Amino acid sequence: MKASAPAKIILFGEHAVVYKKHALVTAVNLRCYAEAKKSSNFRIISPLGVTSLDFEVHPWISCAIKNFIKVKPINGVEIKIESEIPIASGLGSSAAVTVSVLKALDAEFETNLTNEEIYELAKKVEIDVQSIGSGTDPFISTFGGIWLIPERKKLNFKEFEILVIDTKEKSITADMVKKVAELRNKYPEIVDSIFDAIDGITLRAAKMFDEKIENEKISELAFLNQCLLKAIGVSNRKIDSIVENLCKQGIAAKLTGAGGGGCVIAFGNVKSANFENSFIVKPEREGVRLEE
Ligand code: PMV
Repeated sequence: MKASAPAKIILFGEHAVVYKKHALVTAVNLRCYAEAKKSSNFRIISPLGVTSLDFEVHPWISCAIKNFIKVKPINGVEIKIESEIPIASGLGSSAAVTVSVLKALDAEFETNLTNEEIYELAKKVEIDVQSIGSGTDPFISTFGGIWLIPERKKLNFKEFEILVIDTKEKSITADMVKKVAELRNKYPEIVDSIFDAIDGITLRAAKMFDEKIENEKISELAFLNQCLLKAIGVSNRKIDSIVENLCKQGIAAKLTGAGGGGCVIAFGNVKSANFENSFIVKPEREGVRLEE
């Protein structure tokens, strides 16, 4: 059986959300596809290689299988992955692979798990693989749509275009979170004011996403958020040069996710933008689903 789950994009509020401020997150229309077939042994086939259960090459898939075995003991399965989501770029590829694998296993072995149960398993996988995690990525990948975090308020669904530019530099979330924590330890009151300002931006944006998107205002908010992310040291040269270049084309942009690499996003009138390694995505209503 084959299942798929979407990628996610943090529109506003990354890093501040680690300190209990808000973030605005949407599922997007790039999907990871996982096919599960009963087999007498374990075999994982993905763009990363062909392995058995392997916690180094395929940590997310292997942990997903390990957690599924606690629900239903199985002696083997063949998992085949095809993904449209760039890896380690802050777009939630790990969560999408986990959630789609769990859904495919559920269908192949007829365990009738609800999406809520799939999400709970995916959250355990996140903790198994990286020790910490807010569960946001598996949540968005399972349920789809646009959400305000941490209260998980589902916002009215809106169709709009998001330009994504992949810096092609890998972003390591744990390192960036640590870097921000160090800055906050040094200058707590200053960094906390920056987080408060980011929170204000996120709430203004969330209100707009829920009601009516005004291109000019959303661009101004993106610009402000990017300046504050730069202030806390999570932008880098490549991101700055992309942001500046887009600015010259009249388009406001910001990094998304942990920063220090990964992707830059822009909203508003992005069709005219001309950039290498760029693509346009849209918010995705549907979370995990079975494929024909
Ligand atoms: O780049 P990602 O998708 O891992 O996002 C990281 C977002 C942070 O706010 C920096 C960390 C977090 O856990 O929310």
